[in-house]
Amino acid sequence: MSIRFELVSKRYEGRDALADISFLVDSGEFVFVTGHSGAGKSTLLKLLALIERPTSGIIEVFGERLSKISRRQLARYRRQLGLVFQDHRLLLDRNAFDNVALPLRLDGYPETAILRRVPAALAQVGLGGRESSMPAQLSTGEQQRLGIARAVVCTPRLLLADEPTGNLDPQLAVEIMELFVSLKTQGTTVIVASHDLPLIQKIRRRTIVLEHGRQIDDFRPENAHGS
Ligand SMILES: Nc1ncnc2c1ncn2[C@@H]1O[C@H](COP(=O)(O)OP(=O)(O)O)[C@@H](O)[C@H]1O
Ligand SMILES: [Mg+2]
Repeated sequence: MSIRFELVSKRYEGRDALADISFLVDSGEFVFVTGHSGAGKSTLLKLLALIERPTSGIIEVFGERLSKISRRQLARYRRQLGLVFQDHRLLLDRNAFDNVALPLRLDGYPETAILRRVPAALAQVGLGGRESSMPAQLSTGEQQRLGIARAVVCTPRLLLADEPTGNLDPQLAVEIMELFVSLKTQGTTVIVASHDLPLIQKIRRRTIVLEHGRQIDDFRPENAHGS
């Protein structure tokens, strides 16, 4: 198992952003989190990334209770994570190679490993050979792919994506969601938050549905592949 939520609540200024959320996610599983704006999707991902702490309840990730992780241990915990955002947050003055190499350099990977891993990550997202392209030379969809390459280059155990298709037209959005599903083959657990229910239904994967901070559904399409 990779994630356990047990009666997790997060309260902001007297309002519940999340209330009594409980679910399990297996290692290597792919899960969508959906719901309208304000439903609590981003809050759920922030709790997993330890950007926020729950008001009550238990969260375990890979057998570790997040409440036991101190501020000093945050960097160690986050090294297992890959994060993808709606606004790709690329460095606009660095080329594709350097953007993807950034987390490896921060982690102190040797240059030989960087030279091997960066092209492999770019190829995995369909950007093979684009190492020297600047972000401005890439299309919106390609920029989002570059952000995904940067998130997976350290082979995270848990990949968290918050509205990764929020800025894309419908056709590109489907391609990016399908890319996330295909990444699963490495055993990475993937959680993707999106308010776009019609898009998610096309991908046919396990989906946790939130409404006003409450979990109202957790469904697995009958002929979903894997997990
Ligand atoms: N830092 C914060 N301070 C106060 N309220 C917040 C904060 N973050 C989120 N909220 C509130 O929590 C609820 C859930 O927000 P969020 O998790 O961002 O929802 P979603 O990502 O599904 O749109 C909303 O009512 C939002 O206004
Ligand atoms: Mg959100």
